[in-house]
Amino acid sequence: ETGYITFDPGFGNTGTCRSAITYMDGEKGILRYRGIPIEQLAEHSTFVETAFLLITGQLPTREELTRTSVYLNDFSPLHENMKAFYQNYPPKAHPMGILSAMVNAMRSFYPELIDLEEEMNKTYLRLISKIRTMAAMAYRISLGERVVYPRPDLCYCANFLNMMFDSVVVPYHVDDDLVRALNVFWILHADHEQNCSTTAVRVVGSGKVNIYSTISAGISALWGPLHGGANQAVVNMLEDIHKKGLTIKDCIAKAKDKTDPFRLMGFGHRVYKTYDPRAKIMKKMGDIILSKIKRKDPLLDIAQRLEEAALKDSYFKEKNLYPNVDFYSGIVLRAMGIPTNMFTVMFAIGRLPGWIAQWKEDVSDPEMKISRPRQIYTGHQERGYIPIDDRE
Ligand code: SDX
Repeated sequence: ETGYITFDPGFGNTGTCRSAITYMDGEKGILRYRGIPIEQLAEHSTFVETAFLLITGQLPTREELTRTSVYLNDFSPLHENMKAFYQNYPPKAHPMGILSAMVNAMRSFYPELIDLEEEMNKTYLRLISKIRTMAAMAYRISLGERVVYPRPDLCYCANFLNMMFDSVVVPYHVDDDLVRALNVFWILHADHEQNCSTTAVRVVGSGKVNIYSTISAGISALWGPLHGGANQAVVNMLEDIHKKGLTIKDCIAKAKDKTDPFRLMGFGHRVYKTYDPRAKIMKKMGDIILSKIKRKDPLLDIAQRLEEAALKDSYFKEKNLYPNVDFYSGIVLRAMGIPTNMFTVMFAIGRLPGWIAQWKEDVSDPEMKISRPRQIYTGHQERGYIPIDDRE
């Protein structure tokens, strides 16, 4: 009679769903996209190739990859009228709010959503291509700088960096190592099973909402500091430690003190109860990029000492708290010159192929039902209406 049903967002009665896209083993720290280990994809693949793998289930042939790149190039500019949206945002508007709105607006600017495989594949690529342009445009307009258009001669990642940083006085020099690092960064973020934002995409998509508005919901869900906003929260935390001269010992004590709101951002994970395999790769990338650009980042040193202290501490060991993907990702993004308020946007661009793949898996399932979780009712039992004059 309490209406008790497990959380059932159309995922069956156990609060879990069936999916063939990403495999995670939280105890062993394993992550595979369509069966391929993340370590091999990070070493050998590109973000565009990994996006194709996630969405179609197979690595592309050379011909498929070429065709994909042509579409990504053709779809890279935005509808000129979308620029008016940006110009009316206050300069300090957070780019995640702008991105969520712009992706939702795509439903109005690109209304043709033809439910044919070839047409839907183009829709996926339109999203993957334009999200880069939208992100870079938000950054440039927030600085009052001219918008840089995508170039047909640059690959997916180089185009993004050029749109972010090209300038009439100092033309952007595309650095192959940075382009490689950005490919790896986005590969590491491309999908992660049924995380908060992917669940939001599956729940919203289960109502047969158009893909643009569904992805927009995923972007909003990712924004929170406990989820995709953690990369920005980690760097804010490290900067705070640096500025205040907090000792590592202080930080570990604060993280353990339940009365203190301080949490070790970038640590802990709902599924990984060991080192997040992505964090290992991200940490190495941080070292490589910083040594290449010959820049020391005091925040990297703080992060490494924090990690070392936490991994030795009984509190963190007992609770299986290890660095997650966000702990070092901010360091990598800083080394690439990405501003802190764009960090979660970078996560969203990376996660887009995973959201699309998970949405596609759901909507192509003839058995799909609308998400309709139930509850354990804890409110009043039945009682009568009280006229206002009789209320105290
Ligand atoms: C992402 O789901 C995904 O896959 C997400 C993601 C993806 O790719 O989509 O991997 C991306 O979101 C990574 C996580 C980024 N968030 C953070 O780094 C924020 C800091 N981490 C925590 O807020 C927390 O660890 C979560 C939110 C990540 C996980 O939360 P859980 O599993 O619900 O853990 P919990 O809050 O129940 O904590 C269990 C215990 C608690 O102590 P007790 O109540 O048992 O005494 O561990 C403690 C917590 O207080 N704890 C921490 C901690 N994380 C958990 N204590 C200090 N510092 C932390 N970071």
